[in-house]
Amino acid sequence: MSITTALHWRYATKRMNGTKIPKQKLDVILDAISLAPSSFGLQPYSVLVIENEQLLEKIKPIAMMQPQVTEASALLVFATWDKLTSEKIDLYFENIAKQRNVTVESMKPMKSTIEEQLKHSDADNFIWNSKQTYIALGVALVAAAELEIDSTPMEGFDKKQLDELLNLKELGLQSSVLMTLGYRDIKTDYLVKLKKVRRDKEKLFIQFP
Ligand SMILES: Cc1cc2nc3c(=O)[nH]c(=O)nc-3n(C[C@H](O)[C@H](O)[C@H](O)COP(=O)(O)O)c2cc1C
Repeated sequence: MSITTALHWRYATKRMNGTKIPKQKLDVILDAISLAPSSFGLQPYSVLVIENEQLLEKIKPIAMMQPQVTEASALLVFATWDKLTSEKIDLYFENIAKQRNVTVESMKPMKSTIEEQLKHSDADNFIWNSKQTYIALGVALVAAAELEIDSTPMEGFDKKQLDELLNLKELGLQSSVLMTLGYRDIKTDYLVKLKKVRRDKEKLFIQFP
């Protein structure tokens, strides 16, 4: 499917039919998330993959009883680092050093640049981290569409309750956004037949001379 066809085909699916998606397709979507760009390449988030039906039943009331939570094949919880710490930055450089066979010392100027970020408040860094999380979400949405897997990006949930349920605080994470993965239920999803609505391109894009 071309990227344009895939983006026309996808929509924020309200009802899914419970069919499981093949593991190989889920893995491709997770690969796409792993390959998403992030500022400096820090990837300041983790993505929880939830397929356990009992757990999904517990999440549904936290997510405004949205039916796609339990009708989906999997739910991805995009969870953002609550803090940026020097330990996390050290791990980031150790990983580059290992994978590129270079020394951390040789990356000193870049390390100092990233460490500048530690001067910001935890709250500001959380916002910065969250922005990176949403890029990963965007990449996942496109990847799913290309594979003809339906999905719903979801912010309609109580973050505090979900973080408690999943013990995210202990992991140094806060939930940012959810994404269901599955197959649309063409009989029950009212959105299936509705036209996709977007702002006029003349207003969306401002062409400078
Ligand atoms: C960050 C974000 C949060 C969203 N939250 C929800 C949600 O909780 N439930 C839902 O059904 N759709 C949710 N949506 C879907 C949007 O309503 C939908 O993407 C938008 O109306 C455009 O329609 P389309 O995606 O079907 O093309 C969300 C979308 C985004 C990007």
